[in-house]
Amino acid sequence: MNQNLMEKIVSLCKRRGFIFRSSEIYGGLGSCYDYGPLGVELKNNIKKAWWKKVVQEREDVVGLDSAILLNPKVWEASGHVAGFKDPFYSCPFCKKQFRGDQIYDLIWNGDWWQSLLKDMAGHKTSKDLFNWAKTKGKDLAPNLALVLRPEVTLSWISDIHKTFKQTDLDFRNFIGRIAASADGLAAIPCPLCGEALSEPTSANLMLSTSIGPVQATAQKTYLRPETAQGIFVNFNNVLQSSRTKIPFGIAQIGKSFRNEITPGNFIFRTREFEQMELEFFVHPQEAKKWHQYWLKERLDWYVKLGIKKENLRLREHKKNELAHYAQACSDVEYKFPFNWSELEGIANRGDFDLKQHGKFSGENLFSRDENGKKFIPYVIEPSAGVDRPLLAFFIDAYEEIGGGRTTTTESNKETEVVLHLHKDLAPIKIAILPLAKKEKLTKLARDISREIKRYWTAQYDEVGSIGRRYRRQDEIGTLYCLTIDFESLEDKKVTIRDRDTMKQKRVAIAELTGYLKEKLE
Ligand code: GAP
Repeated sequence: MNQNLMEKIVSLCKRRGFIFRSSEIYGGLGSCYDYGPLGVELKNNIKKAWWKKVVQEREDVVGLDSAILLNPKVWEASGHVAGFKDPFYSCPFCKKQFRGDQIYDLIWNGDWWQSLLKDMAGHKTSKDLFNWAKTKGKDLAPNLALVLRPEVTLSWISDIHKTFKQTDLDFRNFIGRIAASADGLAAIPCPLCGEALSEPTSANLMLSTSIGPVQATAQKTYLRPETAQGIFVNFNNVLQSSRTKIPFGIAQIGKSFRNEITPGNFIFRTREFEQMELEFFVHPQEAKKWHQYWLKERLDWYVKLGIKKENLRLREHKKNELAHYAQACSDVEYKFPFNWSELEGIANRGDFDLKQHGKFSGENLFSRDENGKKFIPYVIEPSAGVDRPLLAFFIDAYEEIGGGRTTTTESNKETEVVLHLHKDLAPIKIAILPLAKKEKLTKLARDISREIKRYWTAQYDEVGSIGRRYRRQDEIGTLYCLTIDFESLEDKKVTIRDRDTMKQKRVAIAELTGYLKEKLE
C-alpha cells in the first residue's frame, strides 16, 4: 500500500467513469467531485446496503429525509455556530494551511522530516547532532528548535533520546516537541516547506448561505454540516407519528457540507459529501450497553461487505479529541494507503442535543419510562460517510495481477486489474458478451441482455476481443460475464464466467435468471 496505489485508483476512477473532478472543463472546484455512471451505482449500492441493515431489517429504526437548510436557530442550539471550529496553522511562505489536530502527523509524514530523520539516524551522540544542526540541518529545517538553538534543545533531549523507538507514538510526540521546541524557542515548522508556521487560529467550518433573493432582507443560514440535527428537531414528530418507543432509532442519508481547512486525499475529505447517520435514542442507564452494541454492529457491516479484517480497527477517542457534544466516541478506521483514517464515528452524544433543542425551541423533547417518569433520552450515533467508505471498499477490492490471468482465450502479458467488490456493491452485476459481432449472436445476446436488465444492472458489450472484454469487466468489478457463442444457437446455453475464480460453466438460457438469482440474492 502506498501513494502510488492512490494515483492508480484515482486514474482508474476517472478512466472507467467512477469519479470525475467537478466542473472539470472549467478547471475543477477545490475538492469537489462528481460520480460518473459506475460511481453512482457503487454509491447507491453502499447506501442501499446500509439502509437495508440499519432500517429495513430492524424493528426499532425508522427512516427520515430532512431538509438540508434548517432554521439557523438549530445551529445555535446544536453548538455549531459557537463550537464547530478547527484550529489551523498557516504557512506564511508556501501559503498552505494545516489542521491543528494533524500537524504533527503531517510533519512526521512530510518529505523534509523523513529525510531529516534519515540524516539524524546516523548521528548517535549529542556532538553529532550538534554538528548536523549547524550544517545540513540549516538547509533542511531552518526553524527546527534543534537547528535554531542546538545547545538548549540537546540538553533536554540527550537523556530521553535513547529511551524511545522511532515507531512509538511517544517518539512521534517527542519529535514534535523537538520541532516545536520545549520552551517556545521556535515555531512549529511547516510540514511542506519547513518554514515557521504562524500562531494557530480557528475557523468555523460551516458553509453559510442566505434565504431570500433580496440581499437586504435575506436571512443568513447554513448548509448542514451533519444530517443529525434534522433528526433531533424531528424527534417528537417521529415519536408521535410512528408510535415507537425507546429504545428506537431514526436514520437518514444525505449531503452535508463543511468548509474544510485541508480537504484532500481524493474523496476522503471534501467540502460536500454524503453521510449515513443513525441517531439511536436510549434510556441513559442503557447508553453504555447500546454504545458497545453499535460498535460491534457497525464494524461487522464493513467486514460482511468484504473489507479485510486486518485493514479495519476501532479507535477510542481520547477526552481532548471529543466533539463538543460527545461523552465518548470510537472511530471505525481503515488502513488507507496514506494512513489509518476514520470511516465512521460512533458516539455517545448523551442528552446534549435534545436538551439544547428543548431549551432553544421551548418544545418538550423527552420520553417516559415504564413508571411514567419523564427522562431525556441519550443518543448513540453511528455516523458514517458514504464517500470515505466507498474509497475504502474500492481500495480493498483492488488487485493487480502482474503478467495477466492466463485462462482468458487470448494470451496476454499485460498487468490486469480485478476489482473484487462484494456482490451487493459491484456496480455492474453481469456483462453480456456475444463472442463475435455476427447478427445471429448479437440478436440472441441482446434478447438475453433485455431479460437480465429487468432484474440487475448489466452491460452489453460486443466490441473487441473476448479477452479484452473480460479484462474491461474485471477492472470495474463485474461479477459474471455471459458469453454467447455459436454453440449457444444450437444447445441454447451460454457460458458464465465468475470474476473471482474465472471458472466457466454452461447454463441453459431458460434457467439463466434462476441461476443468477441464486448467486446474487
Ligand atoms: N454527526 C456526527 C458527525 O458528523 P463526523 O465524525 O464529523 O461525525 C461522520 O462525521 C463521518 O462523515 C466521518 O466518519 C466521515 O466518514 C464523514 N465525513 C465527515 N467529514 C467529511 C468530509 N469533509 N469529507 C468526506 N467525508 C466526511
